[in-house]
Amino acid sequence: MRYWIVNGQSRSIVLIGMMGAGKSSVGRCLHRRTGLALHDTDEIVAAKFGMSIPEIFDEHGEKKFREAETEVLRRVRTEEQTIIITGGGIVLRNENVEILKRLGVIVWLDGDEETLFTRASRKRNRPLLQTKNPRKTFSQILGARRPLYANIADIRVGTSVLTDEEVAVAILAKLRRMNAKPESPIPATTS
Ligand code: S3P
Repeated sequence: MRYWIVNGQSRSIVLIGMMGAGKSSVGRCLHRRTGLALHDTDEIVAAKFGMSIPEIFDEHGEKKFREAETEVLRRVRTEEQTIIITGGGIVLRNENVEILKRLGVIVWLDGDEETLFTRASRKRNRPLLQTKNPRKTFSQILGARRPLYANIADIRVGTSVLTDEEVAVAILAKLRRMNAKPESPIPATTS
């Protein structure tokens, strides 16, 4: 396989963005297309606790979840080139942001609010949306987080009208345009 280096170093692809942005599905598409290993911080945290994310929030609270999320990031090996899927709230802690920047190219999956909310509320597995008015809650969270995502993102991809595969292709194309060299994990062709 041909590899590409982004920004002069071998770097992972870090997916950030709001609940419903499609980070997990796009991450899997990228994994299939690049052959890079996949780390999903939510999955790793859930496995550590031996329970689902809603159960962790229920039994241990959000603070414990956030601590575990940071602990997972601290343990991701920087020398390995991977695809890292993060939970929507990963940008809330400065320490996380510093780690993510060191890990790789930060790709923000964005979308219009209505589309993101529709996707995020399809499954009832988002503890932060278990409120009297989930739509309003979502809007408040998104309003608070958009600047945080924007602040750390190297690349932004609007996902509202794209399939997961199209988003993956768009990411790979953007990465190739960013100073890509023939030793990085982004394949020369995306088909
Ligand atoms: C959260 C998003 C979730 C999960 C947890 C908290 C958030 O991940 O980490 O429920 O704070 O936005 P997804 O972004 O994959 O839904």
